[in-house]
Amino acid sequence: MSIVISLGGSFLFDKKRDTSLLFNELKKLNEKFLVITGGGPIAREYIDFSKDFNLSEKELHTVGIKCTHINAWVMSKAFKTDYTDKDPRKIKTNKRITLTGGYLPGWTTDTCAAYAAVSTHSKVIFNMSKEMGVYDKDPRKFKDVKLLKNIGFEKLYALTKGKRVPGMNFIFDPLAAKICKKNNIAVVVTNDIEDIKRYLENKEIKGTIVR
Ligand code: UTP
Repeated sequence: MSIVISLGGSFLFDKKRDTSLLFNELKKLNEKFLVITGGGPIAREYIDFSKDFNLSEKELHTVGIKCTHINAWVMSKAFKTDYTDKDPRKIKTNKRITLTGGYLPGWTTDTCAAYAAVSTHSKVIFNMSKEMGVYDKDPRKFKDVKLLKNIGFEKLYALTKGKRVPGMNFIFDPLAAKICKKNNIAVVVTNDIEDIKRYLENKEIKGTIVR
């Protein structure tokens, strides 16, 4: 069994220093981790740049996938972990920490995380993003938002509407959420590294638990 972490590009680029803390923390915990890195601002910038050359939608998604793998590969070098570009539906982890990125055009790294959680029998995905958790309203648009501590997948779907276009950005991809719901996998949305340990020790966390 592994524990899957969907490491949003927004976390990676917003919290460069915290990324070192995150990997140090993972190394301390006595678990196997599979970390799937998002593309973040680099992916969106590269997708925008590629649009000027009339790439197809599928090719634009592929640009995004390649960016997720640059991030995964660089992190694997920085923190001396394993790296793979295998199909997340077939991933079997045997190293303490393995990094990977996206896989199929039209998915997101959250989707990869959900499939990887199924194939590695993980009961939880930690979705590390820029936000502390899931709010009752979009925090990018509203100021008077309330953090939700425990929600079901139906509530998450209701809060994650948006088109599936290259560079799409969800707090947690609804396609991934469907896979998690079907396979009884909890999703912890947080930006607090300590929440990983807290959750594994059955302690109260600062972010949101979806199940
Ligand atoms: P992500 O959406 O996964 O990166 O990939 P992100 O935005 O950094 O992740 P979060 O939202 O913070 O968790 C960037 C883009 O790459 C393409 C999609 O177009 C996506 O919007 N992609 C990624 C795929 O087409 N397939 C994949 O398996 C992964």
